Amino acid sequence: MSRFRAKSVLITGAASGIGRATALAFAAEGASVLVVDQNGSGAHDTRELIRAAGGTAESMRADVSDYGQCQAMVQCAVRAFGGLHIAFNNAGIPSSLAFRIHEIELSDWQQMLNVNLGGVFNSIKAEVPAMLASGGGAIINTASVAGLIAAKNMASYVAAKHGVVGLTKAAALDLIGLGIRVNAVCPAATRTAMLEGALAIPEIKASMESDHPIGRAAAADEVAKVVLFLASEEASFVVGHAMAVDGGLTIK
Ligand SMILES: NC(=O)c1ccc[n+]([C@@H]2O[C@H](COP(=O)([O-])OP(=O)(O)OC[C@H]3O[C@@H](n4cnc5c(N)ncnc54)[C@H](O)[C@@H]3O)[C@@H](O)[C@H]2O)c1
Repeated sequence: MSRFRAKSVLITGAASGIGRATALAFAAEGASVLVVDQNGSGAHDTRELIRAAGGTAESMRADVSDYGQCQAMVQCAVRAFGGLHIAFNNAGIPSSLAFRIHEIELSDWQQMLNVNLGGVFNSIKAEVPAMLASGGGAIINTASVAGLIAAKNMASYVAAKHGVVGLTKAAALDLIGLGIRVNAVCPAATRTAMLEGALAIPEIKASMESDHPIGRAAAADEVAKVVLFLASEEASFVVGHAMAVDGGLTIK
């Protein structure tokens, strides 16, 4: 398949998990991929995996909570691949699961908003001019089922991910007339580094599986396939949508 041949794709949080799976999937379909993460060595490893499979990739270290670093990542993609057509704004940090709302430290609240919501805003703001110069494109943001429904002891994460869904809709309205489609994916439990700790505890693993009508957590590449769909021409009429990839979690 070569749905993304000649396309330049930028992916944040691509050192592992959903971001890495999506980077590999885009590259396998012909895209040139800029792998971005604050974990520079993990980003480098993803780049090497893509190259070993015969794909085209570059990598760089950047912290998406810093707008200047988001501008630098976009410049890197344009320099390396001649433009920017697709961006997957996926970098994020997990919730601690240990604190009720009044127990959350102000610094943790701020950090969560700066990375999980501010990082998406910074990325979009930096990406749009380069995408317009490239003739338009598609942006996909990683929200979560926590952007659609609430969960206990996750107030800051839930607030940030609901913010990502709102930001996705607002950006979609602002940008669709300019030729840029913006959508979000909302994964439920996905087997990545972020979930490793929680899944090691048997009771949490069992409840996580029973919470999902499908009876299991997702694999990262099951989320990646939906991201590729939203980025593709097959989704040409899908605008401002927050697509649940959740094994039925949010239909109960
Ligand atoms: N795993 C799940 O169950 C799940 C469910 C719903 C949503 N998500 C979301 O999916 C996205 C990817 O998470 P994952 O599960 O693949 O976890 P992961 O920990 O494997 O990947 C997240 C990546 O983001 C990077 N990152 C964190 N802060 C960053 C920053 N400030 N700047 C740049 N990079 C940064 C990390 O270094 C890491 O490589 C996150 O936004 C997460 O909130 C995950």
